[in-house]
Amino acid sequence: MSKVTVLKSEEEIAKRCVELGQEITKAYEGKSIYVISVLTGAVFFACELTKRIDRPMILDFVTASSYENTTESSGDVKVQLNLKHDIAGKDVLIIEDIIDTGRTLDKLKTIILEKHPASLKICTMLDKPARREKGFEVDVDFVGFQIENKFVVGYGLDYTDETMRNLPFIGTVEFD
Ligand code: IMP
Ligand code: MG
Repeated sequence: MSKVTVLKSEEEIAKRCVELGQEITKAYEGKSIYVISVLTGAVFFACELTKRIDRPMILDFVTASSYENTTESSGDVKVQLNLKHDIAGKDVLIIEDIIDTGRTLDKLKTIILEKHPASLKICTMLDKPARREKGFEVDVDFVGFQIENKFVVGYGLDYTDETMRNLPFIGTVEFD
């Protein structure tokens, strides 16, 4: 069993979601939001955060996968955009779990922009700027926490095999 150390506790994450919620509420004054959360990892964060955003919203989901059961990005990002509604003319907010190389968000952003939303902003729970690859420097509007280059699990984020998502905190993991 790998050793997991708490990096951000459930309380710290909840507190940060309240702050981010206020920021986002302000940024979308007088507007409603079409939230697109990325499955599966961003779901815990999206639930906690959207409760703290005081704006009318639609909550939708897309599937993105870039890690084929390894902790290194395969570089090949698969996005399944199966939205419930037309987003043309809507103010879209993407909620993501973590930005690592930047490839997933780069691809998702391109696909969403092809649908002509009125605006597109990005909120991520975690950002690992040290890992960003050249050509994938996506602009992020709202960041929960910037973290150093360590592999993290919990609060929606999985280990190599889809496990550990249900840990109530974000932890760093040392591999066996
Ligand atoms: P990117 O395309 O390299 O930016 O990777 C984004 C995706 O990789 C995230 O949505 C996560 O699913 C996964 N990922 C990146 N870093 C980690 C990590 O430290 N722990 C768990 N999953 C990660
Ligand atoms: Mg993952």
